Amino acid sequence: MYLRVSVTDRCNLRCTYCLPEDARFSDSRAAPEEIDALMGAVCAAVPVSKIRLTGGEPTLSPDLERHVRAAAWLVPTVGLTSNGVLLEQRLADLRDAGLNRLNISLDAADPAGFQRATRRDRFAAVLGSIRQARKLGFDPLKINAVAMSGIDPTALARLAVAEGVHLRFIELMDIGEAHNGWESRHVGAATIQERLRSDGLRIHEAPECDEPTSRVWHIEGVDPHRTTLGFITTVSAPFCSTCDRIRLDSRGRLHTCLFDEAGVDLLSWLRAGDEHGLVELIRRTVAGKAPPPRFRREGAMAAIGG
Ligand code: 5AD
Ligand code: SF4
Repeated sequence: MYLRVSVTDRCNLRCTYCLPEDARFSDSRAAPEEIDALMGAVCAAVPVSKIRLTGGEPTLSPDLERHVRAAAWLVPTVGLTSNGVLLEQRLADLRDAGLNRLNISLDAADPAGFQRATRRDRFAAVLGSIRQARKLGFDPLKINAVAMSGIDPTALARLAVAEGVHLRFIELMDIGEAHNGWESRHVGAATIQERLRSDGLRIHEAPECDEPTSRVWHIEGVDPHRTTLGFITTVSAPFCSTCDRIRLDSRGRLHTCLFDEAGVDLLSWLRAGDEHGLVELIRRTVAGKAPPPRFRREGAMAAIGG
């Protein structure tokens, strides 16, 4: 299984599809050592081969390095999804702690577009983190952009080529803040591909390079070891039948699906010291993993980490 752990629901950006300007965050967070203990319990209960730390924005946690170390002790592949604003200075320590996969979220290729998407003026900081990650040898380094009206996919693709990173477009899901005007904001992968073509990029499918959740495309004349494009078709072609993701949130609840809003409370079992009961509960919960009744979620994406 692939375990995603949201270490905090707080965030220093306000992406318009994710958080309102006056976002409120949970005050019932698990302590850092409890998050590590729950990661360990999940790995003891079910086979986990990969852990990804997410948020909110995970770099807002002063304990992120310790979570990476704890995860690296449990599994060979430890990833991080960050918005990159506060990442540059911490990357070397995170790598030394065992981080070996990195995704940075970026929806615009210039400061004005970034400000429109995130309501904050931090484009330069994110670009600095991308360059530092390249310097430190994170490979493949992936940039995640949300496919929605208003983005400039061609500018993002050109930035990806210039920086030598892989670009993934994620279809906008009908979650939390994205409810507002979702019908008109959501843009399918096919539309992005047409736009890239009409802007003069010569792109073609590379099905032999497809990843479990993304269709991979190559750009003519660009080394695919440096830069590929990928389309994560969460909306136009959901991948529930092959999904092996489970999620732990910062309140210590386990969710077997992104659209499973409530999740199952693991933290009180941990606090009660009932290790056997905890492991049994995790097994039962994971055994019940099933596609959602509908692809819609009320609460913020930041509460579960994407
Ligand atoms: N649909 C698709 N992706 C989303 N993200 C946040 N909200 C949504 C949504 N409604 C993305 C972020 C980040 C990742 C963690 O999830 O942009 O790349
Ligand atoms: Fe923060 Fe990520 Fe949500 Fe943007 S999408 S507001 S970076 S949690």
